Amino acid sequence: MKSIDQIDVKGKRVLVRVDFNVPLDDQGNVRDDLRIRRVLPTLRYLMDRGARLIVASHLGRPKGKKVPGLSLRPVAERLGRILGKKVHMASDCIGPEVEARVMRLEAGQILVLENLRFHDGEGKDDDAFAEALAALCDVYVNDAFAVSHRANASVCAVTRHAPLSVAGFLLKQEMTYARQALDRPVRPFVAVVGGAKVSTKLGALENILRRVDKLVVGGAMANTFLSAAGKKVGRSKVEPEMTAAAAAIMDRAAERGVPFYLPVDAVVADRIDAGAVVRRVPVREVPEAWMILDIGPASLSLFSQALYDAKTIVWNGPMGIFELEAFSRGTLGMAHCLAESHALTVVGGGETGEAVQKSGLADQISYISTGGGAFLTLMEGKPLPAVTALEAAERRFSGKDKSAGGNKTP
Ligand code: 3PG
Repeated sequence: MKSIDQIDVKGKRVLVRVDFNVPLDDQGNVRDDLRIRRVLPTLRYLMDRGARLIVASHLGRPKGKKVPGLSLRPVAERLGRILGKKVHMASDCIGPEVEARVMRLEAGQILVLENLRFHDGEGKDDDAFAEALAALCDVYVNDAFAVSHRANASVCAVTRHAPLSVAGFLLKQEMTYARQALDRPVRPFVAVVGGAKVSTKLGALENILRRVDKLVVGGAMANTFLSAAGKKVGRSKVEPEMTAAAAAIMDRAAERGVPFYLPVDAVVADRIDAGAVVRRVPVREVPEAWMILDIGPASLSLFSQALYDAKTIVWNGPMGIFELEAFSRGTLGMAHCLAESHALTVVGGGETGEAVQKSGLADQISYISTGGGAFLTLMEGKPLPAVTALEAAERRFSGKDKSAGGNKTP
């Protein structure tokens, strides 16, 4: 993918699609600005080179309606504070008023557009909406890895209308690490998969099993595997409809000779609550009325042995309910295992990234992705529609794909 450092942006109107889908607190303030900070290299690079910056993002799922609580205004304010400069805010993301504001932008100035998902066309990958967005710019930049698994107009259709489309630094970095870990891993390659449900990660498990040397499964989804293996898991969360699929995965791992690790002990409680009564038990002794809410110390030690010789580790999904201190040791312990290893360690975003931040070990991990769903899509071995669109636009632009027609030069 061609990136921003390979083109001239001086004086150009550059539309940067970022993923500022950040959590807000009860007062509507930004609770976690990591996704904002991760695109700063791209924004600073463009500003320093005299681009006129238009920043676009979605926030939440307003489903084509203008929802005041999902305005990007607080995000724009936070961006301004981080950059230490005035960030302008538009009242919409397309239309004559926005176009006029863009035309008034001077080199190095930034205008944040209002939530793209206030328009129906965004989620529908609508060409007319994409054309209106593209009309704002001379150059389109995708730096929104975390939403690149969505066929949305601002990451897909827009590349068919913008005069020139390139990748930002974050998108490039995300794809480089993901491809290095998932497609060209230095072996032994170990995947650690956790989180709530087998159903949301079945595709990722099936695909990753074809690539890894060892597979470790923890978190609530491990309960379904334990149940499939004939263990009684009390009142733990289980997906009964997924036990056959879980059994099939374990069979396939055995056929392929891939060691498959499940928890051997667990932290159990009578309810999901910070004040719950908590016990550590072997998985074959989970009391009938109790729930597994974290992996136990013996499991952590087993999993850390599985990782000891790894040269590549991919981790996606927490080992327990790490938000509650009583059930956080498995997940924080796993963060320690990755931090201490000598492997390339790549952590899928969302909750797992949050857990690593919480562990205070983020700087000892090779790479923490900003993408939850996008990272999972790559683990499933599927392409990201936005990356495919960007690559197609680049081919059109460089004239390799003459049949598709070329884009105008800026
Ligand atoms: C994310 O937070 O994973 C991305 O911003 C995508 O959001 P979405 O799941 O609402 O499309």
